[in-house]
Amino acid sequence: MSEHELRVSKIRNGTVIDHVPGGQALNVLAILGIDGSGGEEVSVGMNVPSDRLGRKDIVKVEGRELSQGEVDVLSLIAPDATINIVDEYDVVDKRRLDRPEFVEGILSCPNRNCITTDDEPVDSKFEVLDDEVRCVYCETIIREELAAHIDS
Ligand code: CTP
Ligand code: ZN
Repeated sequence: MSEHELRVSKIRNGTVIDHVPGGQALNVLAILGIDGSGGEEVSVGMNVPSDRLGRKDIVKVEGRELSQGEVDVLSLIAPDATINIVDEYDVVDKRRLDRPEFVEGILSCPNRNCITTDDEPVDSKFEVLDDEVRCVYCETIIREELAAHIDS
C-alpha cells in the first residue's frame, strides 16, 4: 500500500486489531471496555477497503495489550481478525484468533436470576457452541446480538 493510501496512522506501541468485519469496530471497542472516557488513545477505521474482506474495520489502541478474556470474546464477533502487537512502530507479534471453548467475563448473562448477574462475585462463563453461547450456570443461550450482552 502506498503512503498516501494509509488511512489510519501507524501507532508506536500497542495493539492493532485488523481484518475486523465491516461495521464491528464499535463492538470491538465495547469488548475492550473503551468508550473514550478513560483517555485511551485509539484510532478506528470503518469500512475501509480490504483485499481479503472487501471492507473491513480496524482498531488501533496505543499503549495497551489485550487480555485472554477480551481476545476470546473478540473471536466470536471477528473470527478472521488479526491481532498485531506493535513495539516501537514494528509489528513484533501477529496472531489469528482461535475459537475458545469458553468465554469468561466480558459478556453478561441475560437471565436476571442467574448467579452471575446479582451481587455475588461470580464471573460470567459461557460455553461456546456452534451458533450460540450458553451460560454454564443457568444454561441461558445467547444466539443473536452478542454485542448487546457485553458488560459495560
Ligand atoms: N500497523 C500500525 N502501526 C505500526 C505497524 C503496523 O498501525 N507501527 C498496522 C498496519 O497499518 C496494519 C497492521 O498493523 O493494519 C499490520 O501491519 P503489517 O503486518 O505491517 O501489515 P500487513 O502485512 O498488511 O498485515 P496482514 O498481512 O496481517 O494484512
Ligand atoms: Zn446465566
